[in-house]
Amino acid sequence: MSSVTVRVPAKVNVQLSVGPLREDGYHDLVNVFHAVSIFDDVVARESDSITVAVTGDWADLVPVDDTNLAVQAARALAKHAGVCYGADLVIHKAIPVAGGMAGGSADAAAALVACNELWGLGLPAEDLMRLAADLGSDVPFSLMGGTALGAGRGELLTELPTTGTFHWTFAMADGGLSTPSVYAECDRLRATPSRGFWPEADAGLLAALRDGDPHALGRCLSNDLQPAALSLRPALAVTLEAGRRLGALGAIVSGSGPTCAFLVEDAAHAARLAQALPERAPIRATATAHGPTPGATIL
Ligand code: C5P
Repeated sequence: MSSVTVRVPAKVNVQLSVGPLREDGYHDLVNVFHAVSIFDDVVARESDSITVAVTGDWADLVPVDDTNLAVQAARALAKHAGVCYGADLVIHKAIPVAGGMAGGSADAAAALVACNELWGLGLPAEDLMRLAADLGSDVPFSLMGGTALGAGRGELLTELPTTGTFHWTFAMADGGLSTPSVYAECDRLRATPSRGFWPEADAGLLAALRDGDPHALGRCLSNDLQPAALSLRPALAVTLEAGRRLGALGAIVSGSGPTCAFLVEDAAHAARLAQALPERAPIRATATAHGPTPGATIL
């Protein structure tokens, strides 16, 4: 096999509840992930060394050195399997960079699946999940896809039942937000330290997902990182308000931001919102999507 292509989805968090800061610098979370149909494709070709190149709208923002998470994933896989194979990775990027949609995590998950196949390792899903958790808190969900409840720092996943398809419009901002700085801002804004407070999954939200009810889901969307993202980037409030005025069923910052996510009625509503938003909000681009979608998949 000389080349493998893996498609991997972006995510939005429909509930992101941030609990106590842990000794290791992470926060315990109740994190309801939902995979949506904005995809990166990662191509892995046989090579003597591990390299990466990036194409697409956001390509100039992605590092192509050893800090690239897809490169780290390929290296971690080779080490785990005890092989010294190489791969030239090419990432075709559609997921915004540092946008709160797990773009880097998606590419790492795709690189794990692609190299496992390219190198003929045949490692089971459990091994890839463990490697994924070491690479980043969101990487296991990028492997898994669908809709899932993430506990711990977000890596301990339980699949959640859903009915039908949810439709979304995303508004991408110019420039990213660094995840650690958004968590740090969240800690700063909280009047009392969050130590000792344990969040729970929202029963109404889980029911809305299970029943395929976008109106109920729209009312339940919640993100504890949103005040922090708005504090660091006040213009996001304008974007959220514009989406609400244009009839979104729910409006929320995606993960640590700055992408804003709008839950809508159907695909036509998503397209109308995507067209109308740029005139009313300071954004770089819009995209429509639906979820849930599968995790990293070999094409
Ligand atoms: O796991 P990942 O490398 O994606 O996390 C990036 C940063 O986000 C961490 O270094 C930490 O500052 C913050 N984080 C956190 N709690 C989590 C997940 C991430 O504080 N559960």
